Amino acid sequence: MIRIWGTKFWITCLIVAFFFLLVTFQVVVELGRFEKQKKKGVSLQDLQHQKQSHSLLTGLQANLFHKRFDNGLDKYPIMLWWSPLTGESGRLGRCGDNSCFFTINRTYLHHPMTKAVLFYGTDLNIDSLPIPRKRYHEWALFHEESPKNNYKLFHPPTITLFNHTATFSQHSHLPLTSQYLEGLQILTSLDYFVAVGKKNALRKKLAAVVYVQSDCDPPSDRDTYIQELMKYIPVDSYGECLHNRGLPPEVNNPSFMDHAQFYHILAQYKFILAFENAVCEDYITEKLWRPLKLGSVPIYYGAPNVEDWLPSNKSAIIVTRFSHPRELARYIKQMDKNDSLYMEFLDWKLKGHISNMHLVTAIKERKWGVQDVTQDNYIDAFECMVCTRVWDNIRLTEKGLKEKQWKAEMTHLTCPAPESFTFVQERASKSSMRDMWKPSFEQSKKEAQALRLLVDRNKNFTTQDFWNLVFKH
Ligand SMILES: *[C@@H]1O[C@H](CO)[C@@H](O)[C@H](O)[C@H]1NC(C)=O
Ligand SMILES: *[C@@H]1O[C@H](CO)[C@@H](O)[C@H](O)[C@H]1NC(C)=O
Ligand SMILES: *[C@@H]1O[C@H](CO)[C@@H](O)[C@H](O)[C@H]1NC(C)=O
Ligand SMILES: *[C@@H]1O[C@H](CO)[C@@H](O)[C@H](O)[C@H]1NC(C)=O
Ligand SMILES: *[C@@H]1O[C@H](CO)[C@@H](O)[C@H](O)[C@H]1NC(C)=O
Repeated sequence: MIRIWGTKFWITCLIVAFFFLLVTFQVVVELGRFEKQKKKGVSLQDLQHQKQSHSLLTGLQANLFHKRFDNGLDKYPIMLWWSPLTGESGRLGRCGDNSCFFTINRTYLHHPMTKAVLFYGTDLNIDSLPIPRKRYHEWALFHEESPKNNYKLFHPPTITLFNHTATFSQHSHLPLTSQYLEGLQILTSLDYFVAVGKKNALRKKLAAVVYVQSDCDPPSDRDTYIQELMKYIPVDSYGECLHNRGLPPEVNNPSFMDHAQFYHILAQYKFILAFENAVCEDYITEKLWRPLKLGSVPIYYGAPNVEDWLPSNKSAIIVTRFSHPRELARYIKQMDKNDSLYMEFLDWKLKGHISNMHLVTAIKERKWGVQDVTQDNYIDAFECMVCTRVWDNIRLTEKGLKEKQWKAEMTHLTCPAPESFTFVQERASKSSMRDMWKPSFEQSKKEAQALRLLVDRNKNFTTQDFWNLVFKH
């Protein structure tokens, strides 16, 4: 009897597990479709490409390295990229006075000089982890993306597995919060600026507000809010989500979304809806920076602490200050009618003055550049942070001193559960994605606990072991 019950129980577990895998897979596919096409996805690929061609050049050097390592002659710590983000089979990288050997070649896991294992969050798969983890294996996580790309990393049991972090959080060891902002100068630039008189004249053809998004129904539930907003004020929507306006034929092509011609179209609008796909502290993307660069006023929803990052305290309309889309619409209309009120929000730009010293300092002090060949990119900076920390500890040990300990805090990667807006019961366009985020987030907490338990056990495990633990309760 018990046996039969047991079998049924396991079959149920398997079915549930299969369902969630399916859902996870769907999410991954959707993400791939939308997010990867965009600017940052492209620039990550560019980085990879850049690195790959670089490693071709140093291919000979890499071979020599394999030989020298195999002869046990070398003294350089090995940084093993467990996710093949860089595509480099082997490169001796210099970080100031220190050098480390960076590789994606997993055979180095068992090499005594392998001191750190580097992970890319989106690619972190539970079915192949570098386990057993040796006492001297430092784990480092690079994860600049939205939580929806791997929810299970956003919980204390998983994030604290790592020694070093580079995430969008300003609390991480290498904060990437400003990853979508090339520099301060581009914010104050007037390259795309359209004067308010011209914008008023264009209002005959255009709405006051524009929305461009093709990743529909993400965890932030932005499309529900915007659909409600559209009841009170016209919005021109060019993307796939809530689409109501076509692009001119000459720019009607997804790749033009990041094109200067398209920016000129956007710059004609007084307001640009800048809604992030997730609502977490410090999770700020080009959605905020783009309107600021173009000289339009962002209507922002996303990071609750966005004011820490705005160029001035009057440069964006913050959605959460309004009790309802109706109230927001009322305010937008008021600004649309009153040029001097509207221009207060562009005063900082016309004066070329960024008063937020927190933003100025963060950009000036970051050790990496965005689309800037004269500077390291953020992956180089991450590699060097880990390399330098490993070397510092090697030197301490040589002097007979105690090593410095590094540990990720839960603040390094965190985001509250996704919330849906409640002012509508049913959305006009039914979306399976919309109802999925919350259960998916809740399940990710269990996944995080299961993963932690298995990693702490420090014996290799199968995907089956993992799912069994996740669905144990
Ligand atoms: C990985 O490294 C080993 C030496 O540890 C070498 O023999 C092997 O060819 C490398 N594989 C690749 C794909 O570079
Ligand atoms: C906004 O900034 C201006 C000038 O930098 C300052 O005088 C003003 O007090 C600030 N207002 C608020 C609400 O912080
Ligand atoms: C327009 O806005 C300004 C504030 O910038 C305010 O002083 C003025 O009274 C407004 N005008 C009207 C007609 O509401
Ligand atoms: C890295 O983290 C592990 C697990 O928390 C810890 O045992 C180890 O001491 C840490 N290493 C350093 C150098 O901080
Ligand atoms: C765990 O990994 C070791 C070495 O890679 C292997 O020999 C062993 O068979 C694995 N055990 C399981 C249960 O997969």
